[in-house]
Amino acid sequence: MLKCEYAVRGEIVIHAQRLQQQLQTQPGSLSFDEILYCNIGNPQSLGQQPITFFRELLALCDHPCLLEREETKSLFSADAISQATNILASIPGRATGAYSHSQGIKGLRDVIAAGIAARDGFPTNADDIFLTDGASPGVHMMMQLLIRNEKDGILFPIPQYPLYSASIALHGGALVPYYLDESTGWGLEISDHKKQLEDAQSNGIDARALVVINPGNPTGQVLAEENQRDIVKFCKNEGLDLLADEVYQENIYVDNKKFNSFKKIARSMGYNEEDLPSVSFQSVSKGYYGECGKRGGYMEITGFSAPVREQIYKVASVNLCSNITGQILASLVMNPPKAGDASYASYKVEKDGILQSLARRAKALEDAFNNLEGITCNKTEGAMYLFPQIHLPQKAIEAAKAAKKAPDAFYALRLLESTGIVVVPGSGFGQMHNPASGLRRRRSPIISRFKAFHEAFMAQYRD
Ligand SMILES: Cc1ncc(COP(=O)(O)O)c(C=O)c1O
Repeated sequence: MLKCEYAVRGEIVIHAQRLQQQLQTQPGSLSFDEILYCNIGNPQSLGQQPITFFRELLALCDHPCLLEREETKSLFSADAISQATNILASIPGRATGAYSHSQGIKGLRDVIAAGIAARDGFPTNADDIFLTDGASPGVHMMMQLLIRNEKDGILFPIPQYPLYSASIALHGGALVPYYLDESTGWGLEISDHKKQLEDAQSNGIDARALVVINPGNPTGQVLAEENQRDIVKFCKNEGLDLLADEVYQENIYVDNKKFNSFKKIARSMGYNEEDLPSVSFQSVSKGYYGECGKRGGYMEITGFSAPVREQIYKVASVNLCSNITGQILASLVMNPPKAGDASYASYKVEKDGILQSLARRAKALEDAFNNLEGITCNKTEGAMYLFPQIHLPQKAIEAAKAAKKAPDAFYALRLLESTGIVVVPGSGFGQMHNPASGLRRRRSPIISRFKAFHEAFMAQYRD
């Protein structure tokens, strides 16, 4: 427990919450009037609107008597009404307030399985789907199942979303990092994986699984297909389970890259279920939907033996079931309106608008970073974040030492206290060798405030 750290909700965020309290109780006491939370991808907290069709459906499912009222026909779209009717028919008792099957409602899993099959072009089985309260509980569940003792290791990327290191630590396993290469746009070299694995083995670690995040957080890269094939082959050869975090599958902003699930890559390489145990994590929190607070997602589990699957089911059943709103949303994410549906046109406008806005803001922030003294930032291809490298002057590093802070935490605290912008120091993602800052993108005042802060900071500490 004590080894577990979670920087996206760590020291800087706790300090930000204190400042927010101060702004409420003593308005005007700080040099800014709002806290700008850029520490985690939480789009609706920053003004992103939910997809109308999804919310219409949720409202109708949660309050089914609306379906019997005449005025509902003028307030809700025709396909929301018909789909809500169908979804309710698949829920035992038509009740969103009832527990469901521990893997989730079968009718919704069927829809998700069909969505995955349409996405990948390979068959998918609804029995392989476990609905979860977001990707995080699914990750915890897998770590709990995989880790027996402190000698069981999990390979995970650096820089990484700290859910992985936190979860491995919580479940008492060994962290086996592999490194993404900033100089090649956060690509990976399978020889590095091999070396890290061998080092771990020579220390008595039994590596059980490899985590890959694609598109990446915090680094924003979309893996090249060749890299994906290398990972699949590596896991197969080394007998590692593949844990693929695919929560940003809708967030790709470059024309020359597209999302390929690891299952699709494995199947197109000729590997079948029995060749490679793998898990794909998906969530309703990201993409264009951004429904983080609704807590929904799923794991698609393939290639595990029947006795292992029984244990996975047992752990899921100890949690009873995931929340039903999240389950419905997960089915909508994998089966959104199609051309010809009544809501399609408005759904498409909303979806495209959100994704274009995310892409525009990513580029604006990337350009702003690369035009500032001492900052370099790779091109962002996907996800919701930028991971710039900030070369701090020696004087700033000494000031950090005097304040008993790591240089990147010192910078992030100064940024927060001057502007109200909350970022995560690079070390929170495991990038210890340089003071980088995981700065999340948001609407434009961020850029001007950040720029003014950085220029003043450099003027104060320039060597
Ligand atoms: C890579 C990645 N995986 C998983 C999660 C967890 O998401 P949730 O539990 O909301 O589905 C996040 C959240 O930011 C993430 O960035």
